[in-house]
Amino acid sequence: MLALTGVTVRYGEREVLHGVDITVAPGELLAVLGANGCGKSTLLRAAAGLQPMTAGGVTLAGRQPGPLDIALVFQQIHLVRRRSVLDNVCAGALGRLPLRRSLTPALFPREVREEAMACLDRVGLADRAHDRAGSLSGGQQQRVAVARALCQRAPVVLADEPVSALDPAASEQVLALLAELAHDERLAVLAVLHQPSLAARHADRIVGLREGRVVLDGPARLNTDALYEPRVAKAAP
Ligand SMILES: Nc1ncnc2c1ncn2[C@@H]1O[C@H](COP(=O)(O)OP(=O)(O)O)[C@@H](O)[C@H]1O
Ligand SMILES: [Mg+2]
Repeated sequence: MLALTGVTVRYGEREVLHGVDITVAPGELLAVLGANGCGKSTLLRAAAGLQPMTAGGVTLAGRQPGPLDIALVFQQIHLVRRRSVLDNVCAGALGRLPLRRSLTPALFPREVREEAMACLDRVGLADRAHDRAGSLSGGQQQRVAVARALCQRAPVVLADEPVSALDPAASEQVLALLAELAHDERLAVLAVLHQPSLAARHADRIVGLREGRVVLDGPARLNTDALYEPRVAKAAP
């Protein structure tokens, strides 16, 4: 279980997350929803250890997560476009390799290449292993990024708007894949999504953020309209 407890983040004087509590269980795809600027990306960065918190903490099965426990998938697909699909997936294993290997990634050990191939097969792209990553469609590239996360063997996957740059069909495919991996591989997957309808179709549970606070936590079919309503102006005194 990944547990975010009382996560509070401040940029300068301004507090943008005010004590956020969220849990994600192994085997669960949790979607985080909310209007632009409500703090979704900040929350995800804090969960990944990339953003200092002023209060609160993150635990995985009751302990502090290690550097390899959390894999990240971004909206802007971070692949090395001129390298092969397989090399990009192998890179997920870099953190597990001795430094000597990390410095010469062209020489990934055979076991890693085999594991990467299995991960590519898992996302339905084994036949593209030797193509340049940049030659794939956006949806395929995001599936490669998911395969790289799998190759990291992290029990937790955090994804920040992983389908925002994709067309509707590719979006459905990537989210179905994330849900399937959560269920079959028992990963805890937390995905920030910009479309409530995608969350309703694929997530097991949703959390709604509004102005840095959790205002909704429950089944994916919950009505999310209130998350996107403009803030009600304070009545004049
Ligand atoms: N690095 C930063 N420095 C200062 N303010 C930031 C920074 N990143 C985000 N913010 C502000 O924090 C709030 C939450 O941003 P963010 O987490 O990116 O929201 P979301 O992902 O929900 O759109 C916004 O008001 C944003 O302008
Ligand atoms: Mg964001």
